[in-house]
Amino acid sequence: MASGSILVTGGAGYVGTHTVVELLDAGYDVIVMDNLHNASMESIKRVEEITGKTVATYSVDLLDKDGLRDLFKKHKIYCVMHFAGLKAVGESCQKPLMYYKNNIGGTVNLLEVMKEFGVYNMIFSSSATVYGSPKYLPIDEKHPVGGCTNPYGKTKYFIEEILTDLCTAEKEWNVVLLRYFNPVGAHISGKIGEDPQGIPNNLMPYISQVAVGRLKELTVHGNDYDTPDGTGVRDYIHVVDLAQGHVAALKRLEKGCGCKVYNLGTGKGYSVIEMAKAFEKGSGKPIPYKIAGRRTGDIASCYADAKLAQEELGWTAKLDLARMCEDLWRWQSNNPTGFRKDS
Ligand code: UFG
Repeated sequence: MASGSILVTGGAGYVGTHTVVELLDAGYDVIVMDNLHNASMESIKRVEEITGKTVATYSVDLLDKDGLRDLFKKHKIYCVMHFAGLKAVGESCQKPLMYYKNNIGGTVNLLEVMKEFGVYNMIFSSSATVYGSPKYLPIDEKHPVGGCTNPYGKTKYFIEEILTDLCTAEKEWNVVLLRYFNPVGAHISGKIGEDPQGIPNNLMPYISQVAVGRLKELTVHGNDYDTPDGTGVRDYIHVVDLAQGHVAALKRLEKGCGCKVYNLGTGKGYSVIEMAKAFEKGSGKPIPYKIAGRRTGDIASCYADAKLAQEELGWTAKLDLARMCEDLWRWQSNNPTGFRKDS
């Protein structure tokens, strides 16, 4: 077991909070760092309610190097799980410098401070977006990377490259790059879940806000793709499975791993219409929808070959589509306006 704490950057966010719960349940000591740009302290309070444990939380920005140093001075860190970053595809096209500065500049600061304090273990929150438009399906880890069409995706790709170069140059480093497919759902307690600001970009938060009455209807972005029903197909993975994938990766890293990369997905693809129907069933609410044109930058289908994580981490996704929808609905209906008290 790790000698020292696990520092979770972006630990108050969607995937971060669920991972903190799984880490605490697995007996790890966890420190959360989050600039609260796209998250609130309420989420950490909820994590504490779920786990019955207190979580040391620091509101520090990755661009504040002295703030980072203070944190590393105060705590003996064994490994950093790095989730912090800006993640809106559309915004990244309008404000590329902001994305490069925060995501890449912030990560370089973090790595430099880790080095200063002799911490050489990192698990990085990457994305299937690094594969760009798939050349074959299912996508395995050998699929070419780098064909990203937006600055957000490029930051994930560039950070992967930085970490890979670092592992080549300095043998002390152990790095696991986790490429997520489409995380959805929420903790079974209904206390934590995804809480997007403004109108959601992603499918499932949008659908759940239609169900709860915050949005009128779903807009289906294109029904003329080369897929069984013409709508886009993705590999949706329950966020709790995803969080458990991080614990499995940490256990692998503890044995010494150099640089490793794993897909975290289910291997199954569902269409937009299938997701809307499944959510209707899980929530008992109708999801009215209209068909519109394709969204710029979208691809027809994307799903994982998840065998490598199974073979090397002993991890597979266990929770099915029905659970994803039921858990998302529990979160959304218990918290119609997310972690905020009003809309
Ligand atoms: N979709 C709709 N209507 C919506 C939202 C989405 O029809 O209101 C469709 C999309 O066209 C797509 C599918 O639902 O076919 C999934 O869309 P998401 O936005 O939920 O997810 P993406 O696969 O587009 O995005 C994910 C991650 C991003 C990442 C991107 C690129 O959420 O962070 O993959 O790989 F950048």
